[in-house]
Amino acid sequence: MSASRFTPRQITLHWLTALLILLIIALPYGSDFFGSFLGGGGGVFTLHKSLGLLVLALTVLRLLVRARDGAPHLLGDEARLQRLMAKSGHILLYALLLLMPLSGLLFGKRPVNLFWLVEIAPLPLSDGARELAKTFHVTAQYLLFALILGHAGAALWHHHVRRDGVLRAMLPGRD
Ligand code: HEM
Ligand code: HEM
Repeated sequence: MSASRFTPRQITLHWLTALLILLIIALPYGSDFFGSFLGGGGGVFTLHKSLGLLVLALTVLRLLVRARDGAPHLLGDEARLQRLMAKSGHILLYALLLLMPLSGLLFGKRPVNLFWLVEIAPLPLSDGARELAKTFHVTAQYLLFALILGHAGAALWHHHVRRDGVLRAMLPGRD
């Protein structure tokens, strides 16, 4: 792979996921607005859940691609603290990209209507386990918001203040 960029398939998966995540978050908060296109709250949550499960599948794929393609070496060896912060932020983001959809899937009592095409039966769990998964889902969203803001802020800081190649590494284009 090129030393200064992620591979095209990694870039595609990154921006597709980012777009989906923003939509997944916007749906429950803008349920009145989106409900007018999707036939009410039921439609809003059908789409929220379907896109969430799509993110789960894309993240598994993305981690496999990441294991194969690796990552460009963007920060010098001297930037130890920055590298540590970037790495831990990325690990937490990946963890939430897996745990948010999984917890959503676990707490539902009714079948998930995947893109209005197929139904996924609810998992046979105790009420206590469902409660736990739901608490995680509605609480961890705030960690996700903070991580996304910090992550996007760091990318913009690299681009506009440090003027290095970090953001460019995740943008399509030629070297
Ligand atoms: C990346 C994936 C996901 C993200 C980022 C996400 C995020 C969120 C957010 C921000 C809320 C609003 C919580 C609130 O009102 O305070 C929510 C609610 C909800 N999510 Fe997800 N979600 C994801 C995937 C899923 C999946 C896969 C399911 C089910 C299969 C699901 C089921 C639900 C349900 C039922 C609610 C309403 C909870 C309530 O009663 O307040 N979510 N989700
Ligand atoms: C929901 C939104 C987002 C999520 C979940 C997300 C997630 C991630 C993850 C997990 C990585 C690590 C890639 C790897 O090393 O395997 C990454 C890298 C990156 N992201 Fe995002 N991202 C989001 C939005 C954004 C935005 C809005 C920007 C730009 C403003 C951005 C810029 C970057 C850059 C430049 C990298 C490479 C950084 C490096 O390797 O040090 N991301 N992103």
